Amino acid sequence: MFTKLAESIKNRPIIGWGIFLATMFIVFLLGLFAASITERRAEIATLFNNKKVDIEGIESRNEIWGENYPRQFNTWEKTADMDFRSKHLGNMPEDALENRPEMVVLWAGYAFSRDYRVPRGHMYAIEDVRATLRTGTPDAETPDMQPAACWMCKTPDMPRLVHELGIENFYKTMWSAYGDEAVNPIGCADCHDPKTMNLTITRSALVDGFNNWGKDITKATPQEMRSLVCAQCHVEYYFKGTDKVPTFPWHKGITVEEMEQYYDEIAYYDWIHTLSKAPMLKAQHPDYELFLLGPHAQRGLSCADCHVPYISEGGIKYSNHQVMSPLKNISVCQTCHRDSEENLRNYVYQYQDKTFEVRDRVEKELARAHIMAKTAWEKGANEKEMATVMQLLRHAQWRWDFAVASHGGSFHAPVETQRILAHSLDRTMQAQLELQKILFAHGITDFKIPDISSKAKAQEYIGLDMKTLTQKKDKWKEAVIPKWIEEAKKKERLIAEK
Ligand code: HEC
Ligand code: HEC
Ligand code: HEC
Ligand code: HEC
Repeated sequence: MFTKLAESIKNRPIIGWGIFLATMFIVFLLGLFAASITERRAEIATLFNNKKVDIEGIESRNEIWGENYPRQFNTWEKTADMDFRSKHLGNMPEDALENRPEMVVLWAGYAFSRDYRVPRGHMYAIEDVRATLRTGTPDAETPDMQPAACWMCKTPDMPRLVHELGIENFYKTMWSAYGDEAVNPIGCADCHDPKTMNLTITRSALVDGFNNWGKDITKATPQEMRSLVCAQCHVEYYFKGTDKVPTFPWHKGITVEEMEQYYDEIAYYDWIHTLSKAPMLKAQHPDYELFLLGPHAQRGLSCADCHVPYISEGGIKYSNHQVMSPLKNISVCQTCHRDSEENLRNYVYQYQDKTFEVRDRVEKELARAHIMAKTAWEKGANEKEMATVMQLLRHAQWRWDFAVASHGGSFHAPVETQRILAHSLDRTMQAQLELQKILFAHGITDFKIPDISSKAKAQEYIGLDMKTLTQKKDKWKEAVIPKWIEEAKKKERLIAEK
């Protein structure tokens, strides 16, 4: 072979030059590669040694962490983007009551009937809690609608304040008391220990939740921590007692029935429904609990595997902190699934479509049941007659809310979510059957549901004066929020314009 090559070069010298140049080029590339490997190694090693600022205690100002960890900070900042809509979710603002006005009736008497928007990026947590009609217009004349506990899931200023004031003192006051203190949106200090950058739990409610459940959170593996940092907020909880301390109802377990049993035994309710008079439960967002019952958790995945995935940039592998719908960069699924983007997207949509078929039906029938109950009371039904109905309405709506308020549930745990909705529909129809009998006994044979086909009509029906509420809120926002921000800047709680 070599004699043949030597002969060829002798006959056509250009081949020899060609081989020579190609070899030189390869050597050159290898040199470049070696140099860049050393450089990248050094870069990774220096990430931790090269901190520009030393972070002490609970530093809620995200920009300060950003000086040390620009890649994570820059991707975290992108939670402000509003550029993606999947079939049902995404990071854009959306008025959920406008799309599904029956929910106004389901929450009659509770602040959610005034205003309910789908969640968007973490960067908006502060802005949105200030703006929602659910926090009212607290000032010198108007009392607060919400306790201080409302800040728990919005800001790293919450653990900072708890540290400074003591946990009891923190909760003892109302939401607006911290208007000029709780100013930085969900960030680094919510999930990281500044010294080691390890994931850490900053909300003691989760630690207590684990204890109630009979588990020790300090035994969590690093992989479990990649879910538990999210479980500080994406869980079911209620505000316990007069001090309104956030408490996870996991004493009997984390299924919808086990939590219901806990609430029933302590006779807890969030509000009395103004139409049906049923003692209601409001589910928060049991994303973590439902996720645990789904196929991915059972194969050992954590939230971060899809929502804070590793990405590579210039040879540096780091965690993409743009927490949002994974469908925007669906290649994250392909680290495990050898399947086309289209198929993967369709699996998600199929689960969601099937779940929402049942959800939409529950919302229509449950709203009807509440209104039937209202009519029954008006026609003279008594508490004894209505007792079964009250319990059925409470249990039906708790199941519906649990399944729906976990926004990712229909994908995270499709079978469990559909099972819960099926039981909700079952209790809803049982309530209607009971109510039919009661109405009939009181001489009603032609029950008709009022027109609740739009948010405005439904809100008018339940007696909300939206015009006044909205005007008051707009005025309040103009008057109060700039003052909070100015005060926060004076106290150096805030760095950049937010
Ligand atoms: C300190 C509380 C808190 C923590 C910790 C937290 N979240 Fe959130 N999350 C929220 C709140 C509040 C919102 C809604 C913000 C809004 O709409 O203004 C939200 C919104 C989201 C959204 C919707 C984003 C969009 O673009 O629509 C996703 C997805 C999400 N969180 C996932 C996670 C994951 C995954 C983790 C853990 C890595 C996590 N969250 C940790 C409180 C938290
Ligand atoms: C909602 C929770 C959450 C928030 C908020 C958060 N992180 Fe992280 N961070 C994570 C998770 C999860 C990982 C992956 C850790 C692992 O794999 O063990 C991570 C990893 C990191 C790492 C290790 C290197 C890497 O990229 O994997 C750094 C550094 C980091 N985050 C910096 C930040 C900074 C800076 C902020 C604020 C701008 C921030 N994080 C906000 C959850 C969070
Ligand atoms: C296997 C990947 C995967 C894992 C793991 C995962 N999710 Fe999701 N999550 C998704 C997908 C897919 C959606 C639906 C996105 C869509 O429809 O646009 C979603 C939706 C969500 C939403 C609703 C987003 C919105 O725009 O309203 C939240 C909140 C959420 N997930 C939180 C979590 C939490 C918390 C965990 C861990 C307890 C978790 N997810 C684990 C893939 C995952
Ligand atoms: C870290 C690995 C990993 C990632 C990332 C991941 N999956 Fe999976 N997924 C799995 C495993 C493991 C299973 C169980 C498969 C099995 O046992 O055959 C699974 C199962 C599934 C299933 C079947 C569920 C069932 O009911 O059994 C679907 C659908 C799916 N994944 C979709 C997705 C989508 C969509 C994404 C991205 C948003 C995603 N997965 C991201 C590992 C992953």
